[in-house]
Amino acid sequence: MEKNYVVIAAGGLGTRLKNYNKNNHTKVLIDINGISMISLQIKQLISWGLSNFVIITNPEYHNMIKNDVELNFSNINLQFVVQQEPNGIADALSYANDLIPKNSLVTFVLGDNFFGSNPLSDLNLDNFTGAHLFVKEVSNPQEFGVIEVVDNKVINLHEKPQDYISSYAVIGLYIYEYKCFDYINLLEPSERGELEITDLNKIFLNKGDISYSIFESWWIDAGTEERIQTLKNLL
Ligand code: DAU
Repeated sequence: MEKNYVVIAAGGLGTRLKNYNKNNHTKVLIDINGISMISLQIKQLISWGLSNFVIITNPEYHNMIKNDVELNFSNINLQFVVQQEPNGIADALSYANDLIPKNSLVTFVLGDNFFGSNPLSDLNLDNFTGAHLFVKEVSNPQEFGVIEVVDNKVINLHEKPQDYISSYAVIGLYIYEYKCFDYINLLEPSERGELEITDLNKIFLNKGDISYSIFESWWIDAGTEERIQTLKNLL
């Protein structure tokens, strides 16, 4: 198997959660039961056996995020890079290109996504090609990217569809072949001006190179106060 590099998207503005519970920083520095969200994320990924990390930060909080993580972890390969503008999740991933050896496997995680068990444990990553998504049935699919499926095959992907398409939300953990970086270069900004992760996944879909599995354990996108509280209760 090629070396597996984890990229964590911890950039963006995270302004929705500024001032939450006296937090005056960015979302990934919010305290979750005594540890910052970003360090909790890394702890989770280390417990899955992963050890090479590229952490995408933003200009304002780069030093704080780096200090927090370096204080909590040693003996793992940690690299940090600043995403200059919050131009979208796929744009954040592109910043890892120069830091990852060619042909590595790329495991991309959104910094605010947490999982009840290791989604990778049932996946055979030997000779992996294309993209692999994990999905979970939810009651609020309009808040996520969703897959449209016919006969168990993905036929389309939609980012936060206002009209109902499917209940299968795409969770914030993506396995990519290294050529994801070439594909990001093909992306155009969406209507909201971002390079969308859903559009990157659509390129893999159009090449017939995408697979998915249904994640059975709990999954939290800790992007709201309510969901952070749920996460705290689950841990
Ligand atoms: O949680 C799963 C969902 O995550 C997916 O179903 C959606 O398809 C995907 O677009 C994403 O939606 P969110 O609205 O939850 O994304 P959010 O803007 O909260 O960004 C997720 C993380 O990525 C967050 O921790 C900050 C980081 N980020 C975000 C942007 C826009 C960056 O590092 N750079 C960015 O430019």
